[in-house]
Amino acid sequence: MSPHLLSVDSLSRDQIDHLLRVAARMEPIAQRRQVTRVLEGAVLGNLFFEASTRTRVSFNAAFCRLGGSVCDTTGFTFSSMAKGESLYDTSRVMAGYCDAIVMRHPEQGSVAEFAAATNVPVINGGDGPGEHPSQALLDLYTIDKEFTRLGKPLAGAHVLMTGDLKYGRTVHSLIKLLSLYAPMRITLVAPPGLAMPDHLIELVASRGHRVEQRDSLASDYADVDVVYTTRIQKERFTAEMSEGFSLSRDFTVDRAFLDRRCGRDTLVMHPLPRDSRPEANDLDVDLNGDPRLAIFRQTDNGIPVRMAIFATLLKVDELIEKDLRPVRWFVPTRVGVDDAVL
Ligand code: NCD
Repeated sequence: MSPHLLSVDSLSRDQIDHLLRVAARMEPIAQRRQVTRVLEGAVLGNLFFEASTRTRVSFNAAFCRLGGSVCDTTGFTFSSMAKGESLYDTSRVMAGYCDAIVMRHPEQGSVAEFAAATNVPVINGGDGPGEHPSQALLDLYTIDKEFTRLGKPLAGAHVLMTGDLKYGRTVHSLIKLLSLYAPMRITLVAPPGLAMPDHLIELVASRGHRVEQRDSLASDYADVDVVYTTRIQKERFTAEMSEGFSLSRDFTVDRAFLDRRCGRDTLVMHPLPRDSRPEANDLDVDLNGDPRLAIFRQTDNGIPVRMAIFATLLKVDELIEKDLRPVRWFVPTRVGVDDAVL
């Protein structure tokens, strides 16, 4: 495996399957039943130059749960980049302090440029509208886990992606990752001007998948297995696009859409954050507590998957089982008050 995780492009099917297997072995630690110290002494540098809650905190928590420690910096204002420091210099400096680095940056390609200046593993935590490979891995892990629970095969699955497919980096990475698996059906529904880039559609179609673009959710989606909805990435809009843009309610995934248009066990996923302001028309809260809503199981899966990424890149993935001890503190059976019992 490449020393870095920058794009889904660098992953082979075997490497992905390995990461998913290691992630499954991390579950007892992620679920706070066991502890390990395999990364004791190691230091993670978390560099976030764009807003983040779950990616930053879950990478941080995953490293800590492996026994390591984390140093982080958020925003340009409090980093030397505000003084004009280059990505090259920042990278070399950080490599002298840390054993792994996670970076999020608003410019596409910036994390790869940063990684080119170091031999310390660098993970792309999102580079502008480019990619978000760890999110795609946790999305795939979630789909695989939920399908196993529902007794469904991944081969031939029908995945509906909706929302901002132009700037949403999570769907860019996810569609590439899914395209490495057995032929699927992928339906793309984006508001005007926010369609999935053509080169990604062509890539997926060239690998034998059936890709279809529709302009509305008002259709029959009874055979859709997963509805993957995303937030409109307004922060990436040009001034011209922002002017007067508002997402029509017709693109909202809510209980009525799921009950009327989808199947009984259609799963709803979202990389989060969902924009809960009423005018945003993002994924509706009326599905909270509904077992079909997999969004918080999805965020929970961020921990074992990110642990697997660190363990694999830092080559301790074979040591985990030898280093487990039981947890000694109190952990509630369900961490969320509305969590569905499956
Ligand atoms: C996404 C991101 O930052 O790309 N969030 C995440 O990491 N889970 C999606 C978004 O911001 O809409």
